Amino acid sequence: MSDKNITSVLKETRQFPPSAEFVARTTVNATERDRLAEWAERDPDGFWAEQAKSLHWTKPWDTVLDWSNVPHAKWFVGGQLNASDNCLDRHVAAGRGNKAALVWEGEPGDSRTLTYQQLLSEVCKFANALKALGVEKGDRITIYMPMIPEAAVAMLACARIGAMHSVVFGGFSADAVADRNNDAKSKLVITADGGWRRGKVVPLKANVDAALEKSPTVEKCVVFNRCNTAVEMKAGRDVWWHDLVAGASADCPAEPMDSEHPLFILYTSGSTGKPKGVLHTTGGYLLGVSLTHKWVFDIKDDDVYWCTADVGWITGHSYIVYGPLCNGSTVVMYEGAPNQPREDRFWEIIAKYRVTIFYTAPTAIRAFIKWGDQHPKGHDLSSLRLLGSVGEPINPEAWMWYHNVIGGGRCPIVDTWWQTETGAIMISPLPGAIPTKPGSATKPLPGIAAEVVDKQGHPVPANAGGFLVVKRPWPSMMRTIYGDDERYKSTYWSHYPNIYFTADGARRDEDGYIWVMGRVDDVLNVSGHRLSTMEVESALVHHPKVAEAAVVGKPDDLKGEGIVCFVTLKQGVAPTDELKAELKAHVVKDIGALARPDDVRFTDSLPKTRSGKIMRRFLRDIAAGRQSTGDATTLEDLNVLAKLRADDE
Ligand code: PRX
Repeated sequence: MSDKNITSVLKETRQFPPSAEFVARTTVNATERDRLAEWAERDPDGFWAEQAKSLHWTKPWDTVLDWSNVPHAKWFVGGQLNASDNCLDRHVAAGRGNKAALVWEGEPGDSRTLTYQQLLSEVCKFANALKALGVEKGDRITIYMPMIPEAAVAMLACARIGAMHSVVFGGFSADAVADRNNDAKSKLVITADGGWRRGKVVPLKANVDAALEKSPTVEKCVVFNRCNTAVEMKAGRDVWWHDLVAGASADCPAEPMDSEHPLFILYTSGSTGKPKGVLHTTGGYLLGVSLTHKWVFDIKDDDVYWCTADVGWITGHSYIVYGPLCNGSTVVMYEGAPNQPREDRFWEIIAKYRVTIFYTAPTAIRAFIKWGDQHPKGHDLSSLRLLGSVGEPINPEAWMWYHNVIGGGRCPIVDTWWQTETGAIMISPLPGAIPTKPGSATKPLPGIAAEVVDKQGHPVPANAGGFLVVKRPWPSMMRTIYGDDERYKSTYWSHYPNIYFTADGARRDEDGYIWVMGRVDDVLNVSGHRLSTMEVESALVHHPKVAEAAVVGKPDDLKGEGIVCFVTLKQGVAPTDELKAELKAHVVKDIGALARPDDVRFTDSLPKTRSGKIMRRFLRDIAAGRQSTGDATTLEDLNVLAKLRADDE
């Protein structure tokens, strides 16, 4: 890490205040935001205690925050609640059972709507089925599903009986599923025969079959029939979802859980070793996601809300399932690709369901721009009133396009910064309370003590680059890395005493707005997906012909970052194009298609320091070809990042 202060020459000065009409209807206006922020600063425990009253607790808590065992926070200690009860029963009991909970559209064009009452009944049946299979409170359950309502049903059924789910994104390979099964010691896997993606069936069950060859702890596998494809059902192990629920009762009272009872594990990539199981617990997580969903999306009872993420990522957990359902919102869920059958599929969905709030990723926005304005312009997008962005820095040009072409110039944009580890949105505009600037996530939410600091932990001057940290615990923070408290401490809490290290570089401008620039560790952000260079390197060196490998990111107009691999081969191995293709396929098999290298370059040696560390900075320069992206802001960010990283190398 560098302690040098780097001056920025940021050019972006445009500001977009919310319209008077938006402000008139907003839940949190500027005055209210200031009041909340001041309150949270003065009396954090009192502030969070008051917010937590929005949840349904079956037993009140005794202590708001127990921070005695730093960095393992305990929130709302002594309190009891159930996440599934908060997302379902509560709304049905309040007479809102007939409101649409999930409005789902499959890629081939089939669709289903589940009301809160129907979703509750599906969840109860499936929870009873899980119990009948021997699932107990505290067990780990792997969910490897397409984007269908049953993915949410499975998650909520686990929550209902206190089993911890570990959702694995459907784009991961069989090997990646096995790794996660083994790390969590999963007892059961829930999957489907397949799911639709770009007109083809992704063979989920076949991947699970291969994974289960290497997953000794898994006893059973539940299979939902989504695509009617032929799958092998192993006697004594595999059971059809429809057979299980056919005889199951729709009565399954939600079991009260301690506030700190683990809700789920979600694996994410770090800069070293295998993916880590980020652990989230019940009370604090649910408060974080429901409160931020209410504030940031300014949610109203009549909103039709669509988050385009996959439930396999934290965005899907927090802003498709737990946050919006806890708030009783109507959630649109779409199974497939944005360009199937044509590049206007998203705009067709928005027009069809009269979507009012749309939350997507910069990498998708860049693809939309490339596909052309004719696609959104061919549909009625007038129902939209608010737009969101998540997953990576959004370049100002993409922001302006989103604002003008999708938002018709009238919709505020919430650029939301957060991480798998933070559980919920941390830095974002409250859309009716603050003018936005293209490319900035604006300010930390009330209660979130995020700052930009130098190597010593001191706040940096305006516009100087530094490290993004969080100085106080917050309810939805991760509690540990599953099974590895030491790694949790060293990864996040060893850079500064008692301060959470995000591994992102950022700067704060003269108005106090934060501009997140990207990772300062060896984590890549490929199409908004987190990948570790080490993971790709270790996949490569497992190949019998590879001696050594170094993997770096390079700027990519569509994906944000592309993956470039520098590979030295074992003696006598010929560096052929066929071998390049073989190595790319090898990485896909080991991790999944999302990790497919863009470029494999053979080299006789890798540049190293005298102590033997690979000098990634040089490799990044070579990989990038030092090309200008034509965007001064982005280039400046890259320079700042390079300097922030320099001391590590
Ligand atoms: O580098 C930041 C980037 O995504 C990382 C977190 O990735 P993940 O845990 O997969 O969660 C993604 C969805 C929350 C961060 O460390 N990131 C996320 N949102 C933004 C962002 N970078 C800039 N601006 C954002 N809005």
